[in-house]
Amino acid sequence: MENKRKIIIDTDPGIDDAIAIAIALFSEELDVKLITTVAGNVSLDLVTENTLRLLTFFGKNILVAKGAEEPLLQKFDDAKNVHGASGMDGYDFGEPNRSNLLKVHAVNAMRRTIIESDTPVTIAAIGPMTNVALLLKMYPEVKSNIDEIVFMGGSLTRGNKTVMGEFNIATDPEAAKIVFSSGVKLAMAGLDVGLKALVYPEDSEKIKIMGKTGDMMYSLFQKYRGGSFKTGLKMYDSCAIAYLLCPEMYEIADTFIDVETQSNLTLGCTIVDLKGYLRKSPNAKVCTDINPEIFKQWFMSSIEKCI
Ligand code: RIB
Ligand code: CA
Repeated sequence: MENKRKIIIDTDPGIDDAIAIAIALFSEELDVKLITTVAGNVSLDLVTENTLRLLTFFGKNILVAKGAEEPLLQKFDDAKNVHGASGMDGYDFGEPNRSNLLKVHAVNAMRRTIIESDTPVTIAAIGPMTNVALLLKMYPEVKSNIDEIVFMGGSLTRGNKTVMGEFNIATDPEAAKIVFSSGVKLAMAGLDVGLKALVYPEDSEKIKIMGKTGDMMYSLFQKYRGGSFKTGLKMYDSCAIAYLLCPEMYEIADTFIDVETQSNLTLGCTIVDLKGYLRKSPNAKVCTDINPEIFKQWFMSSIEKCI
């Protein structure tokens, strides 16, 4: 494990989360030290169950810690319509092994993992940023041992939860504001790339015959409403993992980002100041575009490793 990049995955599975987590678990370059759960796609209890189900399915011995059950200020509003009532509809995972579920809160588990690590830890945030914001506010000392926060969230243009709000950011815009202003190195993989990171029917048919994993993923794809099976399923959260494993698929801009937290009309809108109108120093690397062919090749070869 010595040369692997240490990561914590903060997540709200969620079918696209499940695929992203699987890719990270089976990557030769990543050492997943901890998975923390946050209310988002479905309730905290359900996203935690789904995380445990996934780890049990893959036989992976990774610590899990439950985090925030609602956003810092906003009313919690899930995405059952996209992922199904369970959050991972389509496949019967059975009862999970719960022995790796820690009794401490996710924020405390994150803190311990980070301060005990002999090398800086990367946080891959693929759900609302509530846990990450709480971590940075409660334990600012961890910042010195966080390598980078790579997050799926936001967009250069419009949203998918509200007119201008992408789901993860719009679910907890105040948390995003805390993270964006934290001074920690940030990398953003927003809708601009997530909407083009697609699994087409021909890809799904190839995945279907990749053993037990392929059968499970194909079954989940039948229920996933992030896009459509026929025109392409949106692998939003895999884009954050792709930033760690295959950044060459992206066009990346070093720029200033912020988030709207005051206006009701544009709450959760991410401001990506590519032209420097705000005259603020860059605080993030933003994926502004993706090469769909490189994504497809990377994605399929990554799934092949999840056996
Ligand atoms: O907007 C897409 C994001 O919202 C993804 O993380 C998906 O899992 C949902 O949480
Ligand atoms: Ca997610």
